[in-house]
Formats: sequence, structure tokens, C-alpha cells
Amino acid sequence: MSLVVINKIDEIREIIKEYKKQGKSIALVPTMGCLHEGHKSLMEKAHSIADITVISVFVNPIQFCPGEDYDRYPRTLEQDKIVAESAGVDIIFAPSVNEMYPNLQKFSDLTMVVPPYELTDIMCGKSRVGHFDGVETVVTKLFNIVQPDFACFGMKDIQQLFLIKKMVKDLNIPVEIIDCPLVREESGLALSSRNKYLSETEKTDALTISKSLFAIKESFKIGIKYTKKLFDVCLTNLSKNVELEYLEFVDADTFKHTDTINSKTICAIAARVGNVRLIDNIILEV
Ligand code: PAJ
Repeated sequence: MSLVVINKIDEIREIIKEYKKQGKSIALVPTMGCLHEGHKSLMEKAHSIADITVISVFVNPIQFCPGEDYDRYPRTLEQDKIVAESAGVDIIFAPSVNEMYPNLQKFSDLTMVVPPYELTDIMCGKSRVGHFDGVETVVTKLFNIVQPDFACFGMKDIQQLFLIKKMVKDLNIPVEIIDCPLVREESGLALSSRNKYLSETEKTDALTISKSLFAIKESFKIGIKYTKKLFDVCLTNLSKNVELEYLEFVDADTFKHTDTINSKTICAIAARVGNVRLIDNIILEV
């Protein structure tokens, strides 16, 4: 089957209904487009586990905070089609904002899915207030529209992945969430659609983000278990041109802060290089 691009909710519902009648399984990869090798690894995973692979390409306005990069977020659908096709994607669902939110002018009128405060009062949820309400709302809508058996999410956005899994469990949404590993450039830089904004010198500075995470992992390996000490390791390795937004250590099972590395700890970072906000993380395991 060759790739099709669908813009309308009714239309994709009809197509999915037909596949379901034939007993075909569906995997969904939600994206905001500007697809890179990180996204591609999710699409390939989806293709390997289900009969039909659907991706959504939708820059979701309600997950951007005021002053963030919603307007300039790269929209590259023609290029995205090529990447998707090469990864075995069958359907790209690329709705307009009006198709997804017909009444967005009246934002206060929209029913939202809101994750628990204590899980969003840390990391990206703390610095991007309301961001995960927007993410959970759009992902719920996409699940309701596509009704996938599987949905693939990247460990690059580790807090997002945790919250989506919790949402699916708490709201009994019948979809299996598949964790997909974080994909990096050979240099170590975590792949991101926002890397496109970086100049060459900014990219060199950005490299110190993953470098500091790797240094933390090395220090941990030689026995440093106190997160305060590991924090200092990060600061030593981070370029002066990188403005640290947060470096947090959370337990992988609970997403609660931890002072010492116990069993499995996520070390997550957000930082600004120029006016580009980047995130990355690494897992420390005893
Ligand atoms: P986006 O940033 O386009 O990412 C789409 C998916 O690709 C997410 O699951 C993300 O974790 C994954 N991804 C991005 N870079 C990756 C990398 N380097 N390695 C592995 N996976 C990577 O995340 C979103 O869009 C949105 O919030 C969305 C879930 C689509 C809701 O609007």
C-alpha cells in the first residue's frame, strides 16, 4: 500500500473502520512533523508491530505556552512524506487546527485532559505551565480518532511518556504504549526538530548538554550516588553559553525527586542555547 495523507477526521475514521473490519491491527505515532531519525525509529517500530502504521503530523497550538515557538515551529509536510514513506508508514493524518479545534477562539470552552499536579510541578511541566494539559488533550483526541492498538512514544520526552502511560491507565484507554529509545546524532546530541534552529556555534555549545549527561553517568559508574555531587559534574561540563533551565533526578517508577540514586533514576535536563530550548535525559541504573 502506498502512503496516503488524510486531513479530515471523518475520512480517517472511515479508513480505520474498514481496516478494523478486516481484522488489521493499527499502530499510531503522534508527531508534530519536521521528521528526523528519532521519529523514524518510532515509525519503524510501529511498522514492525502492527499491520497498519498511522502517523499524525500536527503542530498542536494548545501545548505551546505564550511566547514559545508555535508560529515558527518548522512545518515540512512534503519532506515528512518522504521520511514517513521510507519508514513504512501507510497513513499520515495531518489535520488543520480548525479540524482539531473548531472553536479554538473560545479556548476556555474546550474540555481538557489534565495530568496530576504533582507530576507536572517538576521538569518541563514546571517551566512550561499547562504544556502537558495540551499534550494529553491532543493525544486523547488522536487516540479517539485513530483508535490504535499500539502507540509509540520516544524516551527523548521522558516526562511526556510517563504521563501518557499514566493517562492511558487512569482513563482505561484501550491502547498499548510502546517506549522507544532516545536517538542521538553520532556527536551525542539528542535529535530534535528544534536542532534546526541552531547555528554552527550554538550546536557546539548544545553538544555540552549530552556531554554533561554522559559525564554524570561516568561519575555514577565510579560510585558517586549523591545527586548534589552529580549536579556539580553537570555544571563543570556545561558550556558557559548554555543556560540551564533544570537538571533533575527522578525515580523512574514514580517520577518523584531523589537525593541518591537508588535503583533506576532518570537524570533529565532542559537548557537554552541562544533562544533554542533543548531537552535531554539519561537513565542511571544500579
Ligand atoms: P514531537 O516532538 O514531534 O515528537 C514526536 C515523538 O517523537 C515523541 O514521542 C518524541 O518523544 C519522539 N522523539 C522526538 N525526538 C526523538 C529522539 N531523538 N529519539 C527518540 N524519540 C524521539 O512529542 C511531540 O511531538 C508532541 O508532544 C506530541 C506527542 C505529538 C503531541 O502533540
